[in-house]
Amino acid sequence: MPHALHARLPKNFVLEERLERYGSVIELKPENLRGRWAESCAPLGAAPFSEMRLDLGCGKGAFAVEAARREPDVLFVAMDSEPICVAYAAQRVFESGLPNVVVVPSTGMRVREFFSPGELSVIHLNFPTPFPRKRDAGKRMACMERLMDFREVLAPSGEVRLRTDSQPLFDFMLTQVPLAGYELLWESRDARSERPNDPASEYERRLGAQGARVLALTAKPGPVPERVEQTAELSLAAYLPHDLETLQGLAYAPHGMEATVENLRNRAAREGRQNASTI
Ligand SMILES: C[S@@+](CC[C@H](N)C(=O)[O-])C[C@H]1O[C@@H](n2cnc3c(N)ncnc32)[C@H](O)[C@@H]1O
Repeated sequence: MPHALHARLPKNFVLEERLERYGSVIELKPENLRGRWAESCAPLGAAPFSEMRLDLGCGKGAFAVEAARREPDVLFVAMDSEPICVAYAAQRVFESGLPNVVVVPSTGMRVREFFSPGELSVIHLNFPTPFPRKRDAGKRMACMERLMDFREVLAPSGEVRLRTDSQPLFDFMLTQVPLAGYELLWESRDARSERPNDPASEYERRLGAQGARVLALTAKPGPVPERVEQTAELSLAAYLPHDLETLQGLAYAPHGMEATVENLRNRAAREGRQNASTI
């Protein structure tokens, strides 16, 4: 585990101990439940869940728990690849006492191994890690390749729902939606104002308090495209505004892209000065 993660941990946090303590809400073999989650996870004697949703990259689980509390007939699978997030999410689920949330410690790269065709009604991508650099673009959950995976496990009327503070990631995702043959059902650059009652994740609360607007979209798979080909610019820096005035007017730099915004501002300022001196 990277050392930086230990720095954020509270005193006396022993990961293995936590994972064991909250093990009853953690599913370590999700592949074994493929195609039968709704029955297998239903409380003893209860009817199978009516639908199942995936909170992919669930972080500490606030969104999944709140959504599950509001919709008791729906099974929520909260998945994260980071063990510390899994431990926190499992604690939250365990303490909530809700029977309709399961925590899965794994990567979203493997969704097709864990869910059968049509098994999921919604895949939530709440503040997915943006991985702004081109060389890391393959790790993004909000991209054409993952959308192609998701269409394999979504129900015919299933949806992918993205929420993010990152305008560059959002604009990148808007290029990916048609490339993967999805239809855009809803798009908002201020989702909190438009739909104030939607449950908020930890990141949404934290970044919202820092002035972030929530950008959100809902898309559903349409016909499979004849050619699936990545034609979009992969570096998220390409989706930032490049003129100095707009860059200086940006009240909020997307989380994780503060340095890129600063570099672009400096570059635009330098170029502005150079142009002025050559006139
Ligand atoms: C910025 S956090 C957002 C957490 C939460 N959804 C929220 O909104 O508060 C992104 C999360 O995605 C997780 N993540 C990144 N890549 C992942 C992957 N390939 N599979 C599953 N989770 C991933 C990270 O560990 C992290 O917890």
